[in-house]
Amino acid sequence: SDRRIYVIANWKMNKSLTETAEFFQEFKSSNDVSVVVCPPTQLLYPTQLFIKQSGKPVDLGGQNVHWADKGAYTGETSISMLKDVGCEYVIIGHSERRQYAHEDDVLVNKKVKQAIKAGLIPIICIGETLEEKNSMRTEQVLSTQLFGALKEIDSGDFIIAYEPVWAIGTGQSATADLAQQTHSYIRSVLKQIVGEKAENISILYGGSANESNAAEYSSMTDIDGVLVGGASLKAQSFDGIIKVFA
Ligand code: G3H
Repeated sequence: SDRRIYVIANWKMNKSLTETAEFFQEFKSSNDVSVVVCPPTQLLYPTQLFIKQSGKPVDLGGQNVHWADKGAYTGETSISMLKDVGCEYVIIGHSERRQYAHEDDVLVNKKVKQAIKAGLIPIICIGETLEEKNSMRTEQVLSTQLFGALKEIDSGDFIIAYEPVWAIGTGQSATADLAQQTHSYIRSVLKQIVGEKAENISILYGGSANESNAAEYSSMTDIDGVLVGGASLKAQSFDGIIKVFA
């Protein structure tokens, strides 16, 4: 297919300025796959400088964005602020934000629109909890999240990250077969929403992805890369995953 393959680092709430500088001294990256690093907000600008200094092919992404253009929203970050410091991507609707910041599909949809309007590519996260999986509600949950996130959107300029909540940070990664089945279902739902553009939308897997299981994911037709948490914190292991997909 024509789909872009992505290997994306989500550092979550980790790393100091010094650790970030050290990461980019060691990091190799690759031209043969699209590599994106999403550091915490206060590290975005220095990270952009470190990337430039290193000369390595890496794009920058935010981990979250506010739905409004600007104004009295203490502690928040607008899409133009992300753009200003060099972001081309932004993660939206990560399960940790859904859980701890109570983000719902309506809010996720507002943020996705904000990103698309500004020309940033949203990395839209969806995924079922263990309880939802055990009660056979996975497809229903994913379909609701997709229709919600993509309401009134006819662009195909977004990335979907399928992150089963039970696989995040647990070491209990989804098998490549299960992930493939689910990605194929997600693509069928995307077809209902954006039509044939669905064929060109990259769908990434996330949830305890690492150097050892990356090869299985990369061999699957509907898995177009990975969104990596823990294993993206060390340059060496993140490079190891990139190598598999490159
Ligand atoms: O955004 C990344 C995911 O939440 C996966 O995190 O690789 O630490 O399981 P993890």
